[in-house]
Amino acid sequence: MKLSCLALSLLCSTALLGYAETAGQPAQRTLPSRINGNPPPPAPTPPLPPVDKAANLPPSTVKPVAPPPAPVALPANLLAWDAETKEYNLKPGELEAHFTFYFTNISSDEVVIRSAAASCGCTVPKLPPVPWTNAPGAVGEIPVTMNMAGKSGVVFKTVTVTTDKGNKMLTVKATVPAPQPVAAAPMDRNKNQELAKADRQAVFRGDCARCHVEPTKGKLGKELYEKACGICHDAEHRAEMVADLKKLNHDTNADYWKTWISQGKPGSLMPAFAQSQGGPLTEDQINSLVQYLVATIPTHAARPPQASLK
Ligand code: HEC
Ligand code: HEC
Repeated sequence: MKLSCLALSLLCSTALLGYAETAGQPAQRTLPSRINGNPPPPAPTPPLPPVDKAANLPPSTVKPVAPPPAPVALPANLLAWDAETKEYNLKPGELEAHFTFYFTNISSDEVVIRSAAASCGCTVPKLPPVPWTNAPGAVGEIPVTMNMAGKSGVVFKTVTVTTDKGNKMLTVKATVPAPQPVAAAPMDRNKNQELAKADRQAVFRGDCARCHVEPTKGKLGKELYEKACGICHDAEHRAEMVADLKKLNHDTNADYWKTWISQGKPGSLMPAFAQSQGGPLTEDQINSLVQYLVATIPTHAARPPQASLK
């Protein structure tokens, strides 16, 4: 199992496909609500006579099985899956894709799920406590969340479910909608501002991510500030609503910085950077920014004595 990029969601390599096929077509908006296209759990076999006792065995009584070194494919006649690949098209403003895989144990033996691991830290499968014993007839579900912040186009990830009887590979596919007219004029400020006004998190997606997210990956502190914040706040020709953080007319402290960075301001062009809010920055990155800002910008605003500022 590859663990190399599990912890580094922003660094992982992603399979990106371009928009060539969809360029010029209006974005598809025919998705139903947030059900992500997951059908209800299948019932491929008639319910078997109750064998729940097996499922209720405390985990400690599950015999440890010598781990097979080479991954063996799970034979197809053990678990029936509702799908091996799930797709989701993100709506504008969405940064996460949610999937749920459903399976039924169609064999006459229990199947013990030991782990589920994704090909990238940006994709997180959720299991109940393992080992997870599934008695014959048992139905289970494995929710998978994909964080698409900073990604564009079509992204595929795999999730490998390891059981005592072999491994099962599942695939999730998410498509980030092309930012509408931007491709033609990436630096068209008015359009960028319009887009950001309609959705302040737009700046983290699609083509916008090229300048507003990519350069922040793996950075901390001062360097991160320059890429993530300075791009707007220290731009020579920034729009007038973008405050000069070094000349704020009020006091600041660590909480102030952390709140603004994490949550931004709804209804403004200041986006929310926390991953919990759909932003691109990890907790560590945000803390490094807070440290840098507290150290660099005086806590107490230097108020000009008179209105002779200019
Ligand atoms: C080629 C790099 C690049 C791309 C792509 C880009 N931006 Fe920017 N963005 C900048 C820079 C540089 C600034 C600083 C202001 C300036 O110099 O124009 C900025 C500033 C902004 C601002 C602050 C307001 C302003 O105009 O100063 C917003 C909001 C913004 N961008 C949103 C977006 C959105 C939304 C997208 C995608 C639709 C996007 N940007 C794509 C580089 C980029
Ligand atoms: C896309 C451009 C953009 C980026 C990137 C951006 N900001 Fe902002 N920020 C704004 C705008 C616009 C405002 C003004 C919001 C409003 O209308 O009040 C703002 C406001 C703020 C404020 C409030 C200032 C005040 O008046 O008290 C703080 C603090 C701030 N930003 C910090 C940051 C930090 C730190 C970062 C980097 C993590 C960052 N911003 C990145 C556009 C941006």
